[in-house]
Amino acid sequence: MIIAQTIAQVRQNITDARQKGKVIGLVPTMGGLHQGHYSLIRRCVEECDYTAVSIFVNPTQFAPGEDLKGYPRTFEADSEGCKDLDADLIFAPASEEIYPGQGTDPSDPLTWIHVEKVTSHLCGTSRPGHFRGVCTVVAKLFNIIQPDIAYFGQKDAQQLAVIRQMTKDLNFPIEIIGCPIVREKDGLAMSTRNKYLDSEQRKQALCLNKALKRAEEMIVAGQKNCQPVIDEMTKVIQQYPQAKVDYISIVDSDLLQPVTRIVPPVLIALAVQVGPARLIDNILVVPTDKKQ
Ligand code: PAJ
Repeated sequence: MIIAQTIAQVRQNITDARQKGKVIGLVPTMGGLHQGHYSLIRRCVEECDYTAVSIFVNPTQFAPGEDLKGYPRTFEADSEGCKDLDADLIFAPASEEIYPGQGTDPSDPLTWIHVEKVTSHLCGTSRPGHFRGVCTVVAKLFNIIQPDIAYFGQKDAQQLAVIRQMTKDLNFPIEIIGCPIVREKDGLAMSTRNKYLDSEQRKQALCLNKALKRAEEMIVAGQKNCQPVIDEMTKVIQQYPQAKVDYISIVDSDLLQPVTRIVPPVLIALAVQVGPARLIDNILVVPTDKKQ
């Protein structure tokens, strides 16, 4: 497995692989890898001839005051994990490789990718500028690595929808694959940010999954209106004193616009602050005939 820190090194390796006719897969990450990330890498290794994993804590998707500085950086363990899964290359650039002016020139970059509408609710409202940073770095990674297929988790459902939209609108010749959420045994969605939780907060973090489960029950029982479901989810979260709702929303699964009636497919998504960690989770409610 190659560990590349420069764009030139990546291009050289990818060009060689492509000349051999290999299908190139990309799994973009910010490191702090866990089983959620590894599920994407495993799938990429299965489906592609060449697996590139990027590990880059992207400064432009963090707002001032967010956790850029303290974000877990566990490169040694991450690279071991990638190697064990038979990844071919890790791209782990320094910040200046991606943003040559960062640090000295705060206006770097001057070119941003902004996806409209799909970013107008959910995390797009609570984290203004976040998706602009995500799209800009993912577009750069797409241009640097030029994968045939790229893998993203349903855990970040809005990110996945935004990347799909960007890929379509900008004609990137890349297939975007969404992968299911990997959870801990008790239902907590795996996240690098779970590391911020102490043992009491870890217990309270279960409120996200509990609220989603309650929503699912109500829908299965025939509830067709969104507001009672949102009210009930809010009540569930309120039973956990360290949890503070950022948003609970039910949106259509394509452009992620709020709906009032539950007509599947819809996405139920929430963000909750639990102690130091802002956690997100979601479920996709699909038409009953599409259930496996
Ligand atoms: P990161 O948070 O490291 O996540 C990398 C990928 O892993 C994302 O596609 C995310 O949805 C997926 N992932 C995280 N937890 C998961 C889980 N429990 N189950 C399934 N997939 C999971 O998302 C980012 O990094 C960044 O925004 C990035 C796209 C790399 C751009 O900087």
